Amino acid sequence: MTSFAKYLCALFFLFSGLAINSAYAAEIQCGKTLAPNALPSPKNQYGEYECRKAPIDITDKASLRRGAELFMNQCASCHALKYMRYERMAKDLSIPPEQMKRFLQLSNAKINDDISARIAPDLQLKMFGTMPPDLTLTARKRSPDWIYTYLLSFYPDSTRPFSVNNAVLPDTAMPNVLDSLHQQVGDQAFKAQVGDIVNFLNYAAEPHQHERKIYGIFVILFLLIFLIPVYLLHREYWKDVK
Ligand code: HEC
Repeated sequence: MTSFAKYLCALFFLFSGLAINSAYAAEIQCGKTLAPNALPSPKNQYGEYECRKAPIDITDKASLRRGAELFMNQCASCHALKYMRYERMAKDLSIPPEQMKRFLQLSNAKINDDISARIAPDLQLKMFGTMPPDLTLTARKRSPDWIYTYLLSFYPDSTRPFSVNNAVLPDTAMPNVLDSLHQQVGDQAFKAQVGDIVNFLNYAAEPHQHERKIYGIFVILFLLIFLIPVYLLHREYWKDVK
């Protein structure tokens, strides 16, 4: 096989690897049942429900700022983002100083602290019987679509301690903390706000993902252009040998 053909094979394996990887990512499932109040969701080949598509856009800073505000008000009492500092978030999302001041006052934190939960761990353990997990990397571990579907899949269940259950994470220890927001704003606006929270959690899981993707495109372009001189050199070196 000529080295040019080897090069083409390497590119083929690279791209099929990427395709398999994204197909695997699309395989993340959202459970065997649907919340009774949920919209029907398509089933996959294993008979499980697929996750709803979260409206993720890392370049939409207004959505990320709304998500940060909602996270601070609705989630940060129980959940930490221990790999994210207030300072970095303020800089990346261009959060105005007044809004930042409010976030810091809420948590009694300093600008270079990481984002920790406001309720003390021992109290949380007593309240829920388990620790609410740190959410910094959940969008990578579970996928943004999973979190989005989870937050939209609470339903009433009188047998549970907080009288709610969840179709995606059955018997979850988390109360339906967004219920009053849902009642206030209605279905459509509620889904949009949950989308903003998930967009923010997706940013927190990998703050530099936008730059990484741009660099990735440049690297692939560079490799493709680099192929031309390599091929010409290859022809030049081998022309007398053959
Ligand atoms: C009153 C405390 C409390 C609040 C507020 C709260 N949660 Fe939770 N959350 C929990 C507990 C407890 C669990 C663990 C559930 C379990 O494992 O059964 C949990 C679990 C989760 C999980 C599942 C994580 C995993 O990988 O299993 C996600 C995602 C989540 N919460 C997101 C949120 C978001 C987003 C908000 C804000 C809108 C929020 N939570 C607000 C208590 C809370």
